[in-house]
Amino acid sequence: MKFLIVWLLVAVTVTVTVVTAVNVTYDHRALVIDGKRRVLVSGSIHYPRSTPDMWAGLIQKSKDGGLDVIETYVFWNLHEPVRGQYDFEGRKDLVHFVKLVADAGLYVHLRIGPYVCAEWNYGGFPLWLHFIPGIELRTDNEPFKAEMKRFTAKIVSMMKDEKLYASQGGPIILSQIENEYGNIDSSYGPAAKSYIKWAASMATSLDTGVPWVMCQQRDAPDPLIDTCNGFYCDGYKPNAENKPTMWTENWTGWFLSFGGAVPYRPVEDIAFAVARFYQRGGTFQNYYMYHGGTNFGRTTGGPFIATSYDYDAPLDEYGAPRQPKWGHLKDLHNAIKLCEDALVATDPTTISLGQNLEASVYKTSSTCAAFLANVDTKNDKNVNFNGNSYHLPAWSVSILSDCKNVVFNTAKINSMATIKRFVAASVDDLSDSKAISSEWSYVSEPVGISSNDAFNRPGLVEQINTTADQSDYLWYSISTNIKGNEPFLHDGFQTTLHVKSLGHVLHLFVNGQLEGSAIGNAGNPAFTKDVSVVLKPGKNTVDLLSLTVGLQNYGAFFDKKGAGITGPVELDGLKNGSNFDLSSQQWTYQIGLKGESQGLNTGGSSLWVSGSPKSQPLTWYKTGFDAPTGDSPIAIDFTGMGKGEAWVNGQSIGRYWPTYIAPTGGCSACSYKGPYSSNKCLKNCGKPSQKLYHVPRSWLKPSGNVLVLFEEIGGDPTQISFTTQELESLCAQVSESHPLPMEAWSRDNPTRKSKSTPKPRVLLECPHPNQVISSIKFASFGTPQGKCGSFSHGYCRSPNALSILQKVCIGSRRCNIEVSSAAFGDPCIGVVKSLAVEASCA
Ligand code: GAL
Repeated sequence: MKFLIVWLLVAVTVTVTVVTAVNVTYDHRALVIDGKRRVLVSGSIHYPRSTPDMWAGLIQKSKDGGLDVIETYVFWNLHEPVRGQYDFEGRKDLVHFVKLVADAGLYVHLRIGPYVCAEWNYGGFPLWLHFIPGIELRTDNEPFKAEMKRFTAKIVSMMKDEKLYASQGGPIILSQIENEYGNIDSSYGPAAKSYIKWAASMATSLDTGVPWVMCQQRDAPDPLIDTCNGFYCDGYKPNAENKPTMWTENWTGWFLSFGGAVPYRPVEDIAFAVARFYQRGGTFQNYYMYHGGTNFGRTTGGPFIATSYDYDAPLDEYGAPRQPKWGHLKDLHNAIKLCEDALVATDPTTISLGQNLEASVYKTSSTCAAFLANVDTKNDKNVNFNGNSYHLPAWSVSILSDCKNVVFNTAKINSMATIKRFVAASVDDLSDSKAISSEWSYVSEPVGISSNDAFNRPGLVEQINTTADQSDYLWYSISTNIKGNEPFLHDGFQTTLHVKSLGHVLHLFVNGQLEGSAIGNAGNPAFTKDVSVVLKPGKNTVDLLSLTVGLQNYGAFFDKKGAGITGPVELDGLKNGSNFDLSSQQWTYQIGLKGESQGLNTGGSSLWVSGSPKSQPLTWYKTGFDAPTGDSPIAIDFTGMGKGEAWVNGQSIGRYWPTYIAPTGGCSACSYKGPYSSNKCLKNCGKPSQKLYHVPRSWLKPSGNVLVLFEEIGGDPTQISFTTQELESLCAQVSESHPLPMEAWSRDNPTRKSKSTPKPRVLLECPHPNQVISSIKFASFGTPQGKCGSFSHGYCRSPNALSILQKVCIGSRRCNIEVSSAAFGDPCIGVVKSLAVEASCA
């Protein structure tokens, strides 16, 4: 008997682990997986932008949100920092990430690139590529192609060794080579064409058994599929009849730059764009990003891309669902999936229902789904379709999974919303202080040259060619002898130091004193800076600290965009009326900081002295701390500091720069109606672009943690504080006119499950499993106004709403209530009413 049980267990284990190879092909309608056309919803999660302990949760929340596919780029410079030396550990463990996606039962789209753009340093290319003799990047150039092929083949063979392609029973159903080359290929002349042909055949020759795509590449050679990227991709037609319409980047928001305001994209518009895409024949759509995450270390592209890569994505930087974005898109995915059989069975038939009104119908003898669109940017419309009347809000699409019942409208949000805030964290031993610590030690970074590796050159050098990006920092130092008879010496010793730089940031020191700083911006990193300085007779030192803030990642020849002080550097106002040009003199250079070479970022070394001097440029600070209690995501509020980089237990949480303030204009109210663009909807104008910086919990121990800061311009570390992300409110506002909740519909029977006529419902759920709804802050059934956090009653309201909600919800993690006069009594007969609720969890 015992033997039998053991045998059965073995048999069960064997059956469970057997993986079957899946054939992935395509035709003009869709990707075909195991002989079946599929309608797929995909989302981007870049594995190094979160920590491995977050991955499974992010993937699960993606699955819960209705995704079928997780897309990621592969980041070459992360995996091969030194030519021939590979690194796939920790956050770089691509295989582990792909396997976690497989464990969740989702597919993977592996965008190898290996040029990826992605707001990633140098577009993902390792800097050493640039130094290979004779190399030209992203064109028909032998040295480049050899390296690109080697890395691509390396990744493919790693995936094959782990049996991760669908053709081997793994999750990878799709792969990408290159990235949006079509946007810039004209700059590369005829060699661009041969390069793209080569890239396609190189990729195909790697024999992955799954299709390859090229995005934004109209001439993608067969069998590669050309795909669309953009805020909207309806109407895109691939370059051959037998290829499906695919959308590889639907930007869910936009990236943040230091010096810029925070972009966001309303979910009604995203849902509209997605519904339009599936309406007009698309079958694969990917959210870029579904989780944006964090640009840890010096991984951001640039210049000036911020450390947060939140992207206004459905999962926020810290991995929590951003509501109602996540929930509304989940409802949309369910609605689209209800239509899948019809969508894959046939091409749509499109008919006009009037100006700006369009119906698309997918109909066969056994199934029917329809999409009704109102693309008018202002006016709601009523339309007649198949003998029924439908109300279509402006800039919206209704999905009719049986060609009759509206299961979803992109502008009608049933999902709950949440308000989250970062609040001062409780740190056990600091009950009455918000500061991280009162006990700091510091090391002053020397101004100018301090390293034995410093070297002299005549004239000014370009920065990236000099540092090879080993550090953000490059010192340009010179001493100059000022004779007593120079005119500016008689003039109160005043002169102007004039410096021209390609960017990105410059700190000017004269005789050891910080005399000024200059910063470029994302659009134009170059600048000219004039500072008034006082010299002394005799020897004067000019130390210019030039720094990069993320290397260029986009554009033709982005790899050749230089940085640093290329001149002129002049002292103005000499006796003969001309300027004293220092540019072509002998300069001394130092790559990186002394503290970097001493490993101060880890907190080690005996150089630290106790104290926290304020407003001192070029200072390293260190403190120990206990982890904030609880399990909410942690961020450091850097208010009080200037600009620099921060390390927690030796790991860089990224560059911080709370003093780079967004312009005051540009944040006016933004409507989801009408075409979106990356600067249409902005918030945080006039405020620091980023003051909160993610500290992954997995990097912390309960106590004895070390925080190190390197501050460039001067700050006060005793002001910075830990904050944790906490839920302030749960809200919902659902109208009687909204579609029924998705649970009311089933795929086998796209019409309603239940015979009775159910009503729309409000569903509230505390995100944390240990919390329950603790109070109802607001409830109104009638004509409530406002939005989550500022609801107010309208002219008509049921007197019972608050007490009914309290009774149904308080004490439960989730509650669910019908939006109807039957539930609340009818406060205004004949008026379409809605229920608005704001609650809190504890
Ligand atoms: C695309 C690019 C992505 C990313 C995006 C903007 O052009 O393919 O990698 O850079 O723009 O977030």
